[in-house]
Amino acid sequence: MSEVTIHIYDTPHLAAAGVGDVFMEGIADFYPKLAGLAAGKTMHPVYEHLVRTEKHSSGLFSQITFAQLDEVIPSDKDEVSFAEDINKYLLSRLSGGYKAFLDIDGRTSQPDLEAKRHRANLLTNGGLGVQLLGIGVNGHVGFNEPGCHPESECRVRALAESTLERNGYEPDILAITLGIAEIMSAQRIVMVATGAAKSSAIAEMINGPQSSNCPASLLRPHTDMKLFLDRAAAKNL
Ligand code: GLP
Repeated sequence: MSEVTIHIYDTPHLAAAGVGDVFMEGIADFYPKLAGLAAGKTMHPVYEHLVRTEKHSSGLFSQITFAQLDEVIPSDKDEVSFAEDINKYLLSRLSGGYKAFLDIDGRTSQPDLEAKRHRANLLTNGGLGVQLLGIGVNGHVGFNEPGCHPESECRVRALAESTLERNGYEPDILAITLGIAEIMSAQRIVMVATGAAKSSAIAEMINGPQSSNCPASLLRPHTDMKLFLDRAAAKNL
């Protein structure tokens, strides 16, 4: 049985606006806890919605500390990082600014230490209030790939074949990701998935066995989790 509340919209943009509104609600509900930000293409219309809303309500995020979910460790130092993406498309566009962004340095020479530092940084800053999440086509959350441990913490991970392919990464690329344990520690999880490519992962997450074969299914016991889908992503439910 899944406790996840599911909201289905006609278009990807409506799903993005829906999750954006509930993310902002969560920020207010759990202030001053951290607001967890995810990256990926699905998030771009969500960022757009947040930026547009904040424009009419300048200062909305001025006291908010955001935290990063995951980051790639690029083989090519010129590759754009998730943190840069979040900054470019969201944080730098907030007219009233924000308090802080607890980011992950993917270009560090000591990624294991960086993962530990990020985990400790989240804890000393009060932990996660609301966490915004996407999902991979293979059911990954953050970069917790199939086979991950339900109690995993922030750490360095290798990526699954399908993730490397879909994101266009070099084969040897690694990533730093919050673990399932930190994601589960958030007071509320709000997840968004759009497009038919995500429909099997969504069906597996909601109706499949709770198993690390589909990391997103490990989040099902969370007591405050909301899922926002467009019709294409919901088609196998
Ligand atoms: C990426 C990231 C996740 C993201 C997910 C979906 O690889 N690890 O943080 O939520 O996979 O990405 P996209 O929205 O680009 O499909």
